[in-house]
Amino acid sequence: MALLLLFLLLAGSVSAREDAFVGVNIGTDISDMPTPAEIVALLKAQNIQHVRLYDSDRAMLIALANTGIRVTVSVPNDQLLGIGQSNATAANWVARNVIAHVPATNITAITVGSEVLTTLPNAAPVLVSSLKFIQSALVAANLDRQIKVSTPHSSSVIIDSFPPSQAFFNRTWNPVMVPLLKFLQSTGSYFMLNVYPYYDYRQSNGVIPLDYALFRPLPPNKEAVDANTLLHYTNVFDAVVDAAYFAMSNLNFTNIPIVVTESGWPSKGDSSEPDATIDNANTYNSNLIRHVFNNTGTPKHPGIPVSTYIYELYNEDLRSGPDSEKNWGLFDASGEPVYTLHLIGAGTVLANDTTNQTFCVAKSNAEPKMLQAALDWACGPGKVDCSPLLKGQPCSEPDNVVGHATYAVNAYYQQMQKSPGTCDFKGVATVTTTDPSHGSCIFPGSNGYKNGTHLNGTSLAPLANSSTSGCLSQYTYNGGYFTSSVILGVLLLSAVFL
Ligand SMILES: *[C@@H]1O[C@H](CO)[C@@H](O)[C@H](O)[C@H]1NC(C)=O
Ligand SMILES: *[C@@H]1O[C@H](CO)[C@@H](O)[C@H](O)[C@H]1NC(C)=O
Ligand SMILES: *[C@@H]1O[C@H](CO)[C@@H](O)[C@H](O)[C@H]1NC(C)=O
Ligand SMILES: *[C@@H]1O[C@H](CO)[C@@H](O)[C@H](O)[C@H]1NC(C)=O
Ligand SMILES: *[C@@H]1O[C@H](CO)[C@@H](O)[C@H](O)[C@H]1NC(C)=O
Ligand SMILES: *[C@@H]1O[C@H](CO)[C@@H](O)[C@H](O)[C@H]1NC(C)=O
Ligand SMILES: *[C@@H]1O[C@H](CO)[C@@H](O)[C@H](O)[C@H]1NC(C)=O
Ligand SMILES: *[C@@H]1O[C@H](CO)[C@@H](O)[C@H](O)[C@H]1NC(C)=O
Ligand SMILES: *[C@@H]1O[C@H](CO)[C@@H](O)[C@H](O)[C@H]1NC(C)=O
Ligand SMILES: *[C@@H]1O[C@H](CO)[C@@H](O)[C@H](O)[C@H]1NC(C)=O
Repeated sequence: MALLLLFLLLAGSVSAREDAFVGVNIGTDISDMPTPAEIVALLKAQNIQHVRLYDSDRAMLIALANTGIRVTVSVPNDQLLGIGQSNATAANWVARNVIAHVPATNITAITVGSEVLTTLPNAAPVLVSSLKFIQSALVAANLDRQIKVSTPHSSSVIIDSFPPSQAFFNRTWNPVMVPLLKFLQSTGSYFMLNVYPYYDYRQSNGVIPLDYALFRPLPPNKEAVDANTLLHYTNVFDAVVDAAYFAMSNLNFTNIPIVVTESGWPSKGDSSEPDATIDNANTYNSNLIRHVFNNTGTPKHPGIPVSTYIYELYNEDLRSGPDSEKNWGLFDASGEPVYTLHLIGAGTVLANDTTNQTFCVAKSNAEPKMLQAALDWACGPGKVDCSPLLKGQPCSEPDNVVGHATYAVNAYYQQMQKSPGTCDFKGVATVTTTDPSHGSCIFPGSNGYKNGTHLNGTSLAPLANSSTSGCLSQYTYNGGYFTSSVILGVLLLSAVFL
């Protein structure tokens, strides 16, 4: 008995020490869908070791065999009614889509339905029986230890999620939620949650600061504090995950771990979605990945891993709805990265970004007068070499204040070794990961030219060493003062702008 207790204690502590992983979701609403072999080649090149499929596509499961990649397969919502009403249908599904593929394909979880309570409430009455039938088929095949069964929820099943300590599940669903949590507890499975700070931010009408949604540092007076627990929240993601822990504990379930089945940020949107940008998507996903790998856990459960699947691998051009719907991907269908994640130090997923490049750019919607002041300051007191902006020089085009201010503030930022606070200029400048170089105008800090072709700086894979000699020298600050001709040039330019 003592031995058993010891074993249980050890087992408990091991699960808490397991490292969190980052996986990706693979949606398939793509007109030019890559073949399974191409998808697997991309996963391998990017060192992605955990994926979730929204179905159980046979060709895909075969392509994933013997790759070491851990796979979550899904019962689509439209098969839920059949499976939830018939043990035999469930057993057939497991035989065809799971037993046929293991162990060659390392299937580690089955997600049964997706956001069923909020998108398909008609199927809610059969949700728990679906999970149980699938589970009993796994038990019969002796696969229940290695394959976990659960169902992903929208975070909107949680009401009053801030402060997290007051969160609870929408009581309408308690008749489903309570037996579901009992099932997850008794099978050692996970509570699966989709966490979208992008939508929380948008729906908050300005209450949630963008920085808080993007895991950017907040001034201490803006940090969210849960008045009941005095826990400090520095990002929306943690607050939503903790809200789920509290909602479970409000139903007296305190030991069910959470896996985030979807989280991400769109890189593009329509005119009503100004925050769906490449930089925000990059910032969110880069920070999310670092946060998960750091095994920080959440304020309520520090150190407890919250493994997370990024939504999603590819942009899905066939998805309906606003433009953002089509632009959650890390890659386009041809496997080209949409942006370069900044993962230095994160290590184990996605090939490292060895470029570590950031730039400072003028905000295109800023007051022209403020931009002009930033330009004048950088080229004057800031001691930036602004000669490339002169007429006939490589960076004279685009001949407008945004273009020229971007060059100047970036040159200053690079000159200051990108120190924090050196890309602000009274709020008209911002840090970006997109290399603003264009044509023959190579920005300081860029090494994005390869045999004359502008490489957009989007590669996730480490760049081969590109020779930048001959480009950089003209930008290194020579320690001297501005020649009067440059100042005159700037003044002349100013005259054009004002
Ligand atoms: C399958 O994945 C599990 C969970 O990560 C791991 O423990 C196991 O070693 C993997 N099996 C194979 C054959 O790679
Ligand atoms: C469902 O089928 C499994 C065999 O696949 C069996 O062990 C189990 O008892 C059945 N459960 C129910 C509720 O009929
Ligand atoms: C709770 O769920 C029910 C059923 O979906 C829905 O009608 C209701 O609006 C939800 N309550 C809240 C506060 O969201
Ligand atoms: C949780 O447990 C407490 C104490 O045992 C009990 O009073 C309460 O009714 C329980 N709540 C639920 C939802 O079961
Ligand atoms: C990583 O974790 C340490 C402590 O566990 C914490 O101090 C640090 O802020 C974390 N870093 C990130 C990027 O979350
Ligand atoms: C990424 O770099 C880290 C060191 O910063 C290294 O430990 C890790 O193995 C690298 N990962 C890949 C996939 O190259
Ligand atoms: C990446 O850039 C940051 C800021 O410039 C710097 O502190 C860090 O050392 C760089 N990391 C690598 C691996 O170059
Ligand atoms: C750049 O060089 C590589 C090999 O060095 C070559 O494969 C590629 O076609 C070149 N690109 C252009 C646009 O010349
Ligand atoms: C990459 O560069 C090419 C050619 O300059 C351009 O057509 C393309 O839109 C760029 N892609 C991105 C993601 O910036
Ligand atoms: C890239 O440059 C680093 C240091 O400058 C060097 O150690 C490394 O071997 C180079 N890699 C290639 C592929 O040339």
